[in-house]
Amino acid sequence: MTLVPAHGGELRPLLAEPSRAAALKEEALALPSWNLTDRQVRDVELLLGGAFSPLAGFLGEADYERVCGEMRLASGTLWPIPIALDVTESFAEKTAPGTRLALRHPEGMLLALMTVTDRWTPDRGSEAERIFGTTDEEHPGVFRLVHRTNPVYLGGPLEGVEPPQHHTFRHLRHTAGRMRARLEELGWKRVLACGTSEPMHRAEVEMTQRAAESSRAKILLQPLLDHTDPGDADYFARVRCYQEVLRRFPEDSAELSLLPLAPCPAGARAALWRAIVRKNYGCSHVLAAEGSDAEALVRKHADELGLTVVPFEKTETAERTADEARQHLEEGLDVPDSFTYPEVIESLRRARPPRAKQGFTVFFTGLSGAGKSTIAKTLVAKLMEAGTRPVTLLDGDIVRKNISSELGFSRKHRDLNILRIGFVASEITKNRGAAVCAPIAPYRAVRRRVRETIARYGGFVEIYVSTPLEVCEKRDRKGLYAKARAGLIKGFTGIDDPYEAPEDAELAIDTSSVSPEEAAGRILRHLEDAGFLAPAP
Ligand code: PPS
Repeated sequence: MTLVPAHGGELRPLLAEPSRAAALKEEALALPSWNLTDRQVRDVELLLGGAFSPLAGFLGEADYERVCGEMRLASGTLWPIPIALDVTESFAEKTAPGTRLALRHPEGMLLALMTVTDRWTPDRGSEAERIFGTTDEEHPGVFRLVHRTNPVYLGGPLEGVEPPQHHTFRHLRHTAGRMRARLEELGWKRVLACGTSEPMHRAEVEMTQRAAESSRAKILLQPLLDHTDPGDADYFARVRCYQEVLRRFPEDSAELSLLPLAPCPAGARAALWRAIVRKNYGCSHVLAAEGSDAEALVRKHADELGLTVVPFEKTETAERTADEARQHLEEGLDVPDSFTYPEVIESLRRARPPRAKQGFTVFFTGLSGAGKSTIAKTLVAKLMEAGTRPVTLLDGDIVRKNISSELGFSRKHRDLNILRIGFVASEITKNRGAAVCAPIAPYRAVRRRVRETIARYGGFVEIYVSTPLEVCEKRDRKGLYAKARAGLIKGFTGIDDPYEAPEDAELAIDTSSVSPEEAAGRILRHLEDAGFLAPAP
């Protein structure tokens, strides 16, 4: 019993063994760090998980050129979309072939080490022309390339330290390796990939089922959901729709998995690329609209890839159904059962905030590395899954980037930072949303001021994340304690700057003995007891 082989022969996950990962973490302390963009985080996640097999890292110049020109790597292996690391000129100057780089999540976590083999300035016009078939900036792909991509590309192999963490729908996230193992376990051999970013309604579900039956294949629903903000209601609603739709397929015939593939509006080329990624996940069959360019291109390479193309007829009815369902929802009208399923409609409706409910703020405080952000994100996920309110995460890092970018870490600046967070959270609370704040907030007086402001509009729940300094320092996920101890950062909270523990916090949680899930559970129970949330069924 074998699944379709990975692209290039064997799956190539890039995560290092734990002992090697520990050594890499140590090495990273002394290396230049590149803070990945959201898009690059997705590329790194897919590279580390093997979804981009056979790539060993970001493409070098020779691979890039051949990919743009002929849709092949320098080795000749089919690969239609360039995956290079775009960086600023000033950062690029710090690198040369052989340079080792620390690739970090925007929040600081070390994800991988890269050995730079190539550095070059690509011709954007030529890339746009070759990949998107146009240089017109109206085209979303060209626009991104010209205005949202850094000017210098770096290429080179990666060694993965830790995959980026997901805090939402974790049971629906799989690396290519894990999904393959799951399919093997289920005994599936012929697997039809099915993925769109739109909610599926009756017509699509029935079409997919027919396609699977006619090719005697099982189904892997692998929606591409563009999601970077953990408080994105639309994303949660869409995932819930897919969860509902999954139940409509006959038992043991379909699986659901969320794929963090960045949007790529490159037409048939992108369809071919997605087919390769899905093959790496173990899919042997891919859907393509009958008569489309995508169908023609994937079909042209189907033998080489060992994939079977299953054409589907793009019916006008299906398109009309989706449009009408959307319109009915916007206008608050009932959507006929013949279009879609009641649960799907319910999920889509929940994306809109319900009205007569009081808002609240959950305010975390604690040392750097205490676990504030992790609990906050888990809590945000649970609040979103409950779906009763719009939720906003005001994490320390997010605030410092977007609201307080000019502030440092003097007492005056820290207080100003907390007051700003308090202001935004009070607005959200006033508008009946849920705000989840997670700064260090080391000073008692300003925390009290924030409490007073917000309590006027709704609930204020202070959570003291009381993880001891020794534990935070030992974790040192961002390497900042080491720098503070070495005197490279001055005025670091807990080292040479004070932290005033709260006296009136509603809850205290020490993450050395409590998991993020458990911590979030405790907070939810507190919110239920206080009447802000309905008790879980
Ligand atoms: S504060 O005190 O509430 O204004 O701090 P906050 O906005 O939460 O920012 C804390 C994050 O900034 C990084 N950092 C520092 N922390 C403490 N002291 C100093 N001097 C410092 N310099 C940078 C650090 O990564 C904190 O992130 P977390 O998420 O707490 O680890």
